[in-house]
Amino acid sequence: MPAPEADRTAPSGPATADRVRLVLRSLGPLCDPDGFVPFDRFMEVALYAEGLGYYAGDRSPTGPGGDFYTAPQVHPLFGATLGDRARAVHRALGERRPLRLVELGPGDGSLAAGLFAAFREAGGAPDGTEYLLIERAPSLGRATLERLGEAADSAGVRVRLGTSVGGDGPFEGIVIANELLDAQPCRRLRWTGREWTELGVEIDGAHLRPAERPLTSPVPPPALPSGPEPGTIVELSPVAEAIVREIADHLVGGVAIVVDYGAEEEEIVRGHPRGTLAAVRGHRPVDDPLEAPGATDLSAFVNFSRVRSAARRAGLVELAYSSQAEALGRWGFPARFEAAVRRTRSSEEEVRLRLAAKNLLFGFEGFRALELAARASAPALRGLT
Ligand SMILES: C[S@@+](CC[C@H](N)C(=O)[O-])C[C@H]1O[C@@H](n2cnc3c(N)ncnc32)[C@H](O)[C@@H]1O
Repeated sequence: MPAPEADRTAPSGPATADRVRLVLRSLGPLCDPDGFVPFDRFMEVALYAEGLGYYAGDRSPTGPGGDFYTAPQVHPLFGATLGDRARAVHRALGERRPLRLVELGPGDGSLAAGLFAAFREAGGAPDGTEYLLIERAPSLGRATLERLGEAADSAGVRVRLGTSVGGDGPFEGIVIANELLDAQPCRRLRWTGREWTELGVEIDGAHLRPAERPLTSPVPPPALPSGPEPGTIVELSPVAEAIVREIADHLVGGVAIVVDYGAEEEEIVRGHPRGTLAAVRGHRPVDDPLEAPGATDLSAFVNFSRVRSAARRAGLVELAYSSQAEALGRWGFPARFEAAVRRTRSSEEEVRLRLAAKNLLFGFEGFRALELAARASAPALRGLT
């Protein structure tokens, strides 16, 4: 979710017209005979296609010089607080195994950096602590691993890149995903008053333009809302739901912590009947999401009704679902913040810290935290919330 910041210059990489040409070439094979591409396939290419996608470079497009800020980039206290939560979960599970943290979509590694710094300040991580970075953009993953090496060493953490959440087989640990699900390709469906239709993109010569067709595939349960106002658009991400199922398939003990912007489907439909797709470039909203694919961030509210339902169906147990601010409160943010205030050396430093804390608690309005336990760990972890 974009947090306003300084303006940015023109998008880097190929110029807009070249990008559109590259997208057209990538989408070509995905088109049906009349040139229609469902929105999720377009978004997949625009965000992740090699050599073109918004996230496919070796530099994170978030943070300073990027298009928007995420919570870990606002202040290391965010990562530190997640580290506290991970330690609390590990203790509650009896510290039977070394602490294993798996971060999905680490981007520039800000969350891990905050967490490592907190471990170092506390005298080092528990023996054998391992931190696995699962980053879809390979060159960004490598750059992040390199950047984090020293901080991990000084915290006593072994950090490495992984290929997928289940790449090493079943495990007990803590999975963290901050702003991962909103960046997954989403289907956009519109209620005409009689039926649901699929929104997408049509290739018209050298141009892309919005298009609408009958549903290209059935929508798996849960059912879409019944009888909304004609024109209502609902977004859902089969990929986001599959990520949750993949976590459930491999997490035999511990928790998954998902922090993202979004809401329950009913709330989204009521508040955003025309959908929630957001296109952002240079810290500014962009009117046309098709304008500069690959140079524009595309994201949509996480449909938490569907994500929570996917988690339940896959066997995960919901420990908590709350606003980001409430979750930070539960995970020990106030104590971390007070300690950080005591360590400030000037009033300017203190003001900066207070502003960052205010931003983390109140600037990320609409952000939710979902904690999902592996079934076997749920009894031991319930007391934590
Ligand atoms: C919005 S950024 C968030 C980065 C970071 N979590 C943060 O909060 O600053 C989303 C990141 O998730 C990565 N990503 C997207 N889908 C992924 C997947 N299926 N597995 C791993 N990483 C993924 C993207 O490449 C990008 O780095």
